[in-house]
Amino acid sequence: MCGIVGYIGDKDATPILLEGLRRLEYRGYESAGVAILTNGDISIAKEPGKLGELEQALTRKPISGTLGVGHTRWATHGLPNKMNAHPHTDFTGRLAMIHNGVIENYQAIKTKLQASGYEFTTETDTEALVNLISEFYQNGHTLEEAVRSALSQVEGTFGIVLISKDDPDLLIAARRGSPLVVGMGEGEFVVASDVAAIISHTKDVTYLDDNEVAVMSRNELVIKTIDNLEVNKRVEKISFDLDKIEKSGYDHFMLKEIMEQPQTIEDAMRGRLLLEEGTAHLGGIEHEIDSLLYAPKMLFSACGTSWHAALIAEYMLEEWVRTPVEVEYASEFRYRDPVIERGSVAFVISQSGETADTLAALKESKRKGAKVLALCNVVGSTIARESDAGVYLHAGPEIGVASTKAFTSQVTVCSLITLLLARMRNIGVSKGVEIVNEMKTLPGKVQSILDHHSVIKEIANEFHKSQNFLYLGRGYNFPVALEGALKLKEISYIHAEGYPAAEMKHGPIALIDENMPVVVIATKDSIYEKVITNIEEVRARRGRIIAIATEGDEEMKNHADHIIYVPATLEFLTPILTIIPLQLLAYYIAILRGCDVDQPRNLAKSVTVE
Ligand code: AGP
Repeated sequence: MCGIVGYIGDKDATPILLEGLRRLEYRGYESAGVAILTNGDISIAKEPGKLGELEQALTRKPISGTLGVGHTRWATHGLPNKMNAHPHTDFTGRLAMIHNGVIENYQAIKTKLQASGYEFTTETDTEALVNLISEFYQNGHTLEEAVRSALSQVEGTFGIVLISKDDPDLLIAARRGSPLVVGMGEGEFVVASDVAAIISHTKDVTYLDDNEVAVMSRNELVIKTIDNLEVNKRVEKISFDLDKIEKSGYDHFMLKEIMEQPQTIEDAMRGRLLLEEGTAHLGGIEHEIDSLLYAPKMLFSACGTSWHAALIAEYMLEEWVRTPVEVEYASEFRYRDPVIERGSVAFVISQSGETADTLAALKESKRKGAKVLALCNVVGSTIARESDAGVYLHAGPEIGVASTKAFTSQVTVCSLITLLLARMRNIGVSKGVEIVNEMKTLPGKVQSILDHHSVIKEIANEFHKSQNFLYLGRGYNFPVALEGALKLKEISYIHAEGYPAAEMKHGPIALIDENMPVVVIATKDSIYEKVITNIEEVRARRGRIIAIATEGDEEMKNHADHIIYVPATLEFLTPILTIIPLQLLAYYIAILRGCDVDQPRNLAKSVTVE
């Protein structure tokens, strides 16, 4: 979703803002713009389309200055055109502001301001807010006071950064619901919606919390609440290096992230597997072990890929820990007044840790008295900070919009939690040791699937012109079917559906003919025979089978048109292996169709609006 960068210092702001916006491109956007204070006036350049359009505009008509803001916009109010692109100025042209989030009462603000003679030129909610700030500013408030006063009247979410042509030594940022982080350099500050835009300047950062305002001059940073109370913030260090957010020789971030999975799965387990005791050690949730062990129910809320990981957690925890688990789309959970039994534990899963619906589900769970545990990838993210406890995925920055390595890390962490609780409840040391030993082999097994990527490439070659795909799986691999279908539709724009294999005959079977590729996850597990029956039902209708099967399964050759083999593992760990070929299949098909896999149309990496 929208990318935000602001700069104050002694360097030229334009290249700094553009580089920051480039690093935030992965979040998804449709237009871009900058506003720079130049010789006492605000110069603005903005263009619809990709950042390259803005860069060209700035080459044609350069602007420079040492104070400025830059933005990539993912449209919520109004078309993604030049007029609606950020930054937006107020009616007088004194202020320029960028905004991420949604101002819910913007219409009321706009109507009131119009009645006082303000004129509006865009369809955005942001323009209402910058003019509200302007009204206070013109009535004798300082810029900081004007921001705080205006924000106290605003309903909705915002991450804003603004400058004034009358305050050349001032950059102001504020947040509620949309992430903002301030990077602290020597005589300069870079504020952004994501550390990716800051890391090349400094590793010292402080994260703004909701209802906080950062007031930056070249030599000082003061953080206050909207109610004017000064806050002492912790300075934190960004824990990764620049190469983690670069393609490092790969054509796309998505491919790089798929290929990184042997390492990221290893990282998710690092220091967390105890071989002798046959269990897992998870420092982040240790103090909540009793809550987990005695919970009458566990509730999981998440969105998209993270929701698929939660479904796998449901299968794992119910099988091994025997605690009832409920999994819900965070967007549904937040509004349906869910019943949360006393003592229940609520899990939220989120790669970004900023997904608005998941954050709302977290807050609703807390409000209803549940302990909330978060599984997040982004360190210091809002969800990570607002939960009672949690486990980090340690997958490193995920830049490709389509989530890949975060998913396998999420499932790995869920299997660690399952192992930890199962060992305290139902299973003995020898079973625990067997599981630990098997988990240790997973990175190598993932590597061996990646090494055979050419088989998957050939299959992609044959099917990349298909209009529809069906993905089928059962048990632990039903969520994998959903995730495989999501990957394909996200990046190749092919219609794809994931289904529990047996459910197919209750409807989707009507779609099957000789043109329908059906991807079936059919590993040698407790329901293998049942899946074979489902495959035969597809074949009887001339559907074309692409099977994900277990190495050594020669029998599969009698059932499938194409086979991608994965190594054998324990049944509950299979999703960590079976998803890998499906990620690669989606990737190669999208490439053959000429799609922009890292920044697919209409999608945002972290969805910070409802
Ligand atoms: C995954 O490929 C998607 N882009 C999307 O479904 C994503 O998983 C979802 O928006 C949740 O994001 P989160 O994990 O950052 O909360």
